[in-house]
Amino acid sequence: MARVAIVTGGTRGIGEAISLALKDAGMIVAANYAGNEEKAKAFTERTGIASYKWDVGDYDACHEGVAKVAAELGPVDVVVNNAGITRDGTILKMSRDMWEDVIRINLGGCFNMAHAVFPGMRDRKWGRIVNIGSINGQAGQYGQVNYAAAKSGIHGFTKALSQEGARFGVTVNAIAPGYIDTDMVAAVPPEVLEKIVAKIPVGRLGQAHEIARGVAFLCSDEAGFVTGSTLSINGGQHMY
Ligand code: CAA
Repeated sequence: MARVAIVTGGTRGIGEAISLALKDAGMIVAANYAGNEEKAKAFTERTGIASYKWDVGDYDACHEGVAKVAAELGPVDVVVNNAGITRDGTILKMSRDMWEDVIRINLGGCFNMAHAVFPGMRDRKWGRIVNIGSINGQAGQYGQVNYAAAKSGIHGFTKALSQEGARFGVTVNAIAPGYIDTDMVAAVPPEVLEKIVAKIPVGRLGQAHEIARGVAFLCSDEAGFVTGSTLSINGGQHMY
């Protein structure tokens, strides 16, 4: 039986590449999205992958979304917590909303989704949870106390949950992407981005499919002995 996978933020950027990689690996994929209706519709038409709208920062919406996917596609075996936002600014300019939105969506979303799928994975004795962290959660980044805290939290969340999942056949891992060629990175001011790229030993931004390959491996049967790990895919920018 094909595994059923949910990819949050799965219709654009890194998430889109992950949805496609899991489909190529033979899974039935549900791509979650929060806002961009038009892009989600185009994505589904282009790829044949079903898209489902809910806000991962909303606990009840995650439980309802998971139940809907399970009813339509089957019990959920794989979750990739990829959805995330940036609200960059130095702390002097950061509002409480900028802090709370990033923590609620980027970090809270991982809890909300894991909480919804973990009991079923435990009962079926198999599961894969992959959380998308960030180089900026490992190393910090000027202007991102909110994002760095959330992503760093994701790395701790991963290590803790992996210890709970191990005896049930549920692996929990993280990927820490560096700067990848997506809309999110394109929003960084060009003069700032130029300086960042100059510090990447490989000499370029990463591509979304380079993250997706790592996710597909961690979600495979063959990766059953890999848990609690963080795979850094960052062109050598930070060696953790
Ligand atoms: N270290 C030390 N000082 C720095 C600095 C740095 N890295 N960057 C800027 N500064 C200094 C500036 O030189 C400036 O000093 P002066 O006032 O003395 O001239 C001061 O800090 C203010 O800098 P800015 O004018 O740039 O401040 P700003 O408020 O206009 O903008 C910012 C701040 C929004 C954070 C902007 O610098 C920025 O967007 N930076 C990029 C942040 C970033 O990398 N985000 C990643 C988004 S992609 C992502 O997050 C995906 C992922 O996982 C990798």
